[in-house]
Amino acid sequence: MIKWNDTYKIGIGNIDSDHKKLFDIFFKIKNSNESGDVVEVITGIHELESYTNYHFSREEAIMVASEYKDYKIHKVSHDHFKHIIDCTVSLLMEDINYVNIGVLIGRLEDWLINHILKADMRYTSCFHDFFRSEFISESCVTA
Ligand SMILES: [Fe+2]
Repeated sequence: MIKWNDTYKIGIGNIDSDHKKLFDIFFKIKNSNESGDVVEVITGIHELESYTNYHFSREEAIMVASEYKDYKIHKVSHDHFKHIIDCTVSLLMEDINYVNIGVLIGRLEDWLINHILKADMRYTSCFHDFFRSEFISESCVTA
C-alpha cells in the first residue's frame, strides 16, 4: 500500500497537504475494502470524489492566476479523473456489485501517483515563481 513521502512533495504547503489527504482517503478506502466494510468503502469513494473536486479547483485557480502554459492539458487530465469517479459513484448507487473496488482503487491510485510525479511536478517552478513574485500566500511555498 502506498504511503506519502517526500518524493511526492511539490513544495507548496496547501497542495502538499491536499495530496497527503488524498493518500489518506485511499488508505481508508483500501482498509475498508479489505475488511469488507461496504458502507465505509462507499463513504470513502464519495469523500474521494468531493476532495478531488476541491483540490483540482485549487490547482486550476493557481494555474489560471499564474498563467501556467500547460493549464489546458492539465485540466483535461483532471476532468478525465473526475469523469471516472463520477461514473463509479453512479454505478455504486445502482449496485455495488457492478464495481470491482480493489481494481478500481488500484487504478485510481496509480493515476494519482503518476499525476503528482509527472504532471504536477511540471508546474512547481511556475507556481513557486508566481507566489514569490506576487507575494500571495508566500508562506505556502515550502521549498
Ligand atoms: Fe493536478
